[in-house]
This record gives sequence, structure tokens and C-alpha cells, in this order.
Amino acid sequence: MPINFNQVPSACFVLEEEKLRRNLEVMQRVQQEAGINIILALKGFAMFSTFPLIRQYLHGTTASSLYEARLGFEEFGDEVHAYSPAYFNDEIDELMRYCNHITFNSPAQWQKFKTKIQDSEKPISCAIRINPEYSEVEIDLYNPCVKGTRLGVTADQIGDKLPEGIEGLHFHTLCESDSYALERTLKAVEARFGHLLHQAKWLNMGGGHLMTREGYDIEHLIGLLRNLREKYDIDIIMEPGTAVAWQTGYLTSTVEDIIDSQGIYAVVLDVSISAHMPDCIEMPYKPVVLGAKEAVLGEPAYRLGGLTCLAGDYVGDYAFDKPLQIGDRLIFNDMMHYTMVKTTFFNGVRHPSIGIWREDDTFKMIKEFSYEDYKNKLS
Ligand SMILES: Cc1ncc(COP(=O)(O)O)c(C=O)c1O
Repeated sequence: MPINFNQVPSACFVLEEEKLRRNLEVMQRVQQEAGINIILALKGFAMFSTFPLIRQYLHGTTASSLYEARLGFEEFGDEVHAYSPAYFNDEIDELMRYCNHITFNSPAQWQKFKTKIQDSEKPISCAIRINPEYSEVEIDLYNPCVKGTRLGVTADQIGDKLPEGIEGLHFHTLCESDSYALERTLKAVEARFGHLLHQAKWLNMGGGHLMTREGYDIEHLIGLLRNLREKYDIDIIMEPGTAVAWQTGYLTSTVEDIIDSQGIYAVVLDVSISAHMPDCIEMPYKPVVLGAKEAVLGEPAYRLGGLTCLAGDYVGDYAFDKPLQIGDRLIFNDMMHYTMVKTTFFNGVRHPSIGIWREDDTFKMIKEFSYEDYKNKLS
């Protein structure tokens, strides 16, 4: 049964367990039929109360920092991978305790930590991030191949042989992409790095594979992955974040005030776009609000805005079948990936709580935030 929002408080991030399982089943099929491994990118989704479910399907996690690696190690278990543009002398020992795969961003970073890793008793398989100089991502903010990028080495920088001790290659150039964008990307990877793929034991294809989006050509993806794996006799890893949590939950909110502002109804909600849905402003994109439509010129438009002082703390103009009233509930859709991981306490605003709508149709509150959560990060 769908969520009964009357049982969910406001403001609250609420994950629908059944939808998460549905996504994981798609991923399980890809893993089984293509013979690859999928791990969860914690940067995109790290609601660890869901890890017992995710663990039934995925092989581990990937971290972009020491803290994410620790979270993956402590709460998920299984494989922990890491990739960061730079590692630190005072963190590497701890990172090595958590990880079994580490990707380095440059030959210099690898040289810096190589001896430590090779001397360690624990086997850690290392990779280098490559820049295939091909990305179809149109927004520079999300394009790792943009001119002047710091992310990964180009083919002419790495040369004919994998650096001594390096066993894997890693690229990440996609963003909410389909399998055809991956196919074209793989052509660029093969053209520039094909000789190294023959030498490598594994290839990590990063994230950005939106295989759980309706209409994604799963058959095509499976074919691509299988062919590549067989051609180079190489293990393939994918590390999506978005695709795991895609369309699996909501942010509930309440209308606190409506201000008639020069022909627009400016709505004040009990959430903040800037603090709780920052990608709506960063990317930017306009989220789907259940029951709302695009505002049409000449009809009442409601500008959904947040609690902070930032003038731009709003998501855009919407229309509703019935006039909005103070106290109405508004539900933002698809609010699981890159939301909770990015929220802030800007202005000291109340942080939405976090809950799960369970498969047995009950709501479970997982976490409520307090003044201490706000205060503790300030000094
Ligand atoms: C190296 C790397 N891996 C994985 C991901 C996860 O990507 P997505 O959440 O788009 O699947 C990202 C996202 O930025 C990334 O930079």
C-alpha cells in the first residue's frame, strides 16, 4: 500500500522501504546477469538505518572520505572502497583499516602512500582514477572532464603501463545517465585506455548510472557490461548513489504562512530549500510536489519558500487545484538522494526528522534532531 501521509509528521524525510527494495532488485538482476558488483556510493545516500535491507542485495559501499569509509565499515560491512582527490598522512592508517579497495586521483598521491599500502599486512587493492576526456554531462558543476579538471589522469599522463602496484582503473563521468551514454563513454575509455584495461584486474565505472529510472534499457546495460568484462577479462564494479535511492521517498512539509507578494502567493514552509534540499538550488531543478502543477500565467501561483533569510530560498512557482491554506501539508517527491547527506543547520532552522514507511505499512520514526545537533558542530 502507498504511504499514508497522515501518519507521517512534518517535517520529515520518509523512505518507502518497498520502493527501495524494488530498486535493489533491479540492481541484483544487473549484477547476476552481467556478472558485476554494485556498491552503494555513500556520498549520495547514507541513511544507515536502511543498510540491513541494502546489504541483502549490494556488495558494499564506496566512500569519499574517512568518515564515510568508517560508516560503511561499521554499519554496512562487506567491501569498503574509497576514492578521494587527496588522502592525508594523519588519516591513511585508519582509512586502510576500513577499506579493501582504494582509488588514487593521481600518480603523485599513489607514490605518497604506496609504500605504506604495500607494507601493510592487510591486502588492499589500489586503482588510479582516469579521465577519459569524454563526458556528456552538460552542467559544468557535474562534469568531471571539464577543462582544467582536477579529477583523474589523462591517457598521456599515465603512459603505456599501469603504475607498479596499481591493479584497477576508475572513472566517473556520468550523471543520471542512460546505458547509451555509458556505451559512448566506454568507447572513449577503450580508445584511450584499452591497453591498460588489458593489464588491470578491475574497472570501477563510478556512479551516474540511473538504472532504476523508468525506461532505462537494462538489457542493453547488461549486454555492454558482459561484453566488456569478457573482452578484457576484468572485474567490473559500479558505484551508484542516486540510482539506489531514486524515487524511494519524500520530504513532508507544512504551509506556515502565505504572503500575497506582488501577484504571487509567497508560501513559507516548515522546511528550507537551501538547508534541506540544496540541490534544487545548486543544480538547479524544480522538484515534484504531490498534487501540484506547473504555474500558468494568469492563474494563482504559489512560490514555495523556506524558513531561512536567504531571499532565494524557494523552489519555484506551482499551481494547485484548490487554494492553499495555512496548515496544508505539501509533499516533495524523490527526496532521498543528495538531500539528507547535504542538509545544513543554516539559520539554526529545524532539521526535518527521518523516518521509514515499512513494508508492513507502518511508520517508524528513526531520528529527530535537537538543539545539540546544531550546536555541536559550531564549536
Ligand atoms: C567517484 C564517484 N562515484 C560515485 C558517485 C555517485 O554518483 P551518482 O549518485 O550520480 O550515482 C559520484 C558522484 O558524484 C562520484 O563522484
